[in-house]
Amino acid sequence: MSAVSARPTPRLTLANRVQHDGIARAWTHYRTVSLHHAWSAVDRRFHPSARNDTTAEKVELDGVTIASPNRATGVHYLPTPWRVLDWVHAALPVPPPGSTFVDYGCGKGRVVLSAAEQPYHRVVGVEFAAELAALARGNVSDLPSPVAGSIDIHEGDAAAFAIPGTPVVAFLFNPFGPPVIERVAASLSRSWRRSPRSIIVAYLNPLHESAFAAVDGFSKVDLPLTSAAKIRLLSPYRLAIYATPEARALMAAQKKLRRP
Ligand SMILES: C[S@@+](CC[C@H](N)C(=O)[O-])C[C@H]1O[C@@H](n2cnc3c(N)ncnc32)[C@H](O)[C@@H]1O
Repeated sequence: MSAVSARPTPRLTLANRVQHDGIARAWTHYRTVSLHHAWSAVDRRFHPSARNDTTAEKVELDGVTIASPNRATGVHYLPTPWRVLDWVHAALPVPPPGSTFVDYGCGKGRVVLSAAEQPYHRVVGVEFAAELAALARGNVSDLPSPVAGSIDIHEGDAAAFAIPGTPVVAFLFNPFGPPVIERVAASLSRSWRRSPRSIIVAYLNPLHESAFAAVDGFSKVDLPLTSAAKIRLLSPYRLAIYATPEARALMAAQKKLRRP
């Protein structure tokens, strides 16, 4: 059982949604919701992490403790489906030595748990909701034998998180809107300008990806063909990847960058 309550949000009827959003957006909405429910059912039934509380129930942010002025721009907790995480990791290069993986808005820590199975030097989950950060910490402490060197859950606002000076993979599953997303993009860009290195932004459900297109150092890269096909066909959400020149070189060397 979740230690925090999940409250349902009001639903539009099919007719209202089509009238309000148009057929194309209504179709995208129903495809997303259906695929999310399907993967949640698969996760509940088959994923061994059932021992961890990273359930697919939505947790609204008005029911949790947040000591930040940015509550209003934050998106409720909903975890990335496990299988989609496999495709995300497959689309990323093997991390160079010393790399840090950061999940901005880690919720109960599912992405942190999955990154802990990859050869990162450090994995960090940043979460501003106290109850969710505590659950994430508990989930991490239950991990029997992580591959990653160290794992931390940092309770605090993503906008204020100090970017490590190592190669970085920054993961976001649509955690917040403007202005927080712009502050995160600007801070990653400043960090890269100070110390040019491989920084990759893997942004799932990238509703505000223009924030990364607008800052120095980052450009969008195409996903490797296999990951692109799986995500396009079977993921509820799109994945956008932005990378610095050093990260693009790394991806090209490891053939994770699709050639035109
Ligand atoms: C859609 S959930 C993603 C959860 C997790 N990353 C995953 O994919 O399984 C978004 C999370 O971001 C957190 N969040 C929203 N705004 C935040 C902020 N400004 N700083 C830190 N966490 C934030 C929410 O509390 C929520 O847990």
